[in-house]
Amino acid sequence: MDHAIAFQDYEASALAAIAAAKSAAEIEEVRIEFLGKKKGRLKDLQAVVGQVSADLRPAVGKLFNEVRDKVTAALEAQQALLRKPKKSLTAIDISLPGQPVLLGKRHPLAQTMEDFKDIIGRFGFIVADGPEIEDEYHNFKALNIPEDHPARDPLENFYLATASYAAGGPVTPRLLRSQTSTVQIRVMEKQQPPIRIVSLGRVYRPDTIDATHSCMFHQMEGLMVGEHVTMAQLKTVLRLFATTYLGQDVTIRFRPSFFPFTEPSVEVDMSWGKDWLEIGGAGMIDPNVLRAVGYDPEKVSGFAFGLGIERFCMRRHQIRDIRRFYENDLRFLSQF
Ligand code: PHE
Repeated sequence: MDHAIAFQDYEASALAAIAAAKSAAEIEEVRIEFLGKKKGRLKDLQAVVGQVSADLRPAVGKLFNEVRDKVTAALEAQQALLRKPKKSLTAIDISLPGQPVLLGKRHPLAQTMEDFKDIIGRFGFIVADGPEIEDEYHNFKALNIPEDHPARDPLENFYLATASYAAGGPVTPRLLRSQTSTVQIRVMEKQQPPIRIVSLGRVYRPDTIDATHSCMFHQMEGLMVGEHVTMAQLKTVLRLFATTYLGQDVTIRFRPSFFPFTEPSVEVDMSWGKDWLEIGGAGMIDPNVLRAVGYDPEKVSGFAFGLGIERFCMRRHQIRDIRRFYENDLRFLSQF
């Protein structure tokens, strides 16, 4: 047989047999048939090399080696493939612990505000909204706070450098609201009595930060205006609200106080263990404020209150430091 045909025949049938082998046993049979050392097709091929003339032998011998190496490599590759364990569903170990999906939560203050709206809503108060950037009229003037009142001191507020101010033009000074009482004015400007609203949101004051003070905190403002609104109703609403949110063991105390926009005014405290903590201010709306929004103080009266949301949340959950709310520490936040 011509040696070239013998080589071609050997190589083609060896590669086909290797590719067709589907198990370790089958590939072993192929190995013995095509690459066996003692007998088999490689031996036959070697005999072909022996038959060629001496001058051709070096070239044919080289070809023999190449064909043998190629078939050996193909066989080893197929052996490796057949050894590899097949991937299957049963390879998943279902007894291993899973990877829990972390679910986010609402911030404790956001939760508190939801609770507040829910509770106060049962007294018929609906939620109103107002801007955090305010003008002096809504933050002070309409609330009967005169120009020279210490609360208007620029050092007691966060004033904004507005664009027109920067350009040296005429300015309407703006500031971050220092109280949610601004929303009282904004609501009364637009609506006629009877009014029963609350407004919850952020207020800003450059206070020295400590365990109970922050330069930004949240208030819930309440406003009720109508024909026979009384201080007795105000006290009842605040007592019922506080005990509903904090439980029956909380005592609410009213202390005479002064706010330019209420007369009479009270400061409201709650008991916390042996201590009292101030939770807000309240009072009957000053006639000057009613007049500023175009109401007739002879016909309508009203009460207003402003409560610190953080302090309620702190007492309910025994949180001793207001700064925890703003530090974004998951070890704290994930407890609520
Ligand atoms: N706005 C007052 C404060 O922030 C609280 C207050 C609200 C007092 C409504 C009276 C009436 O201190």
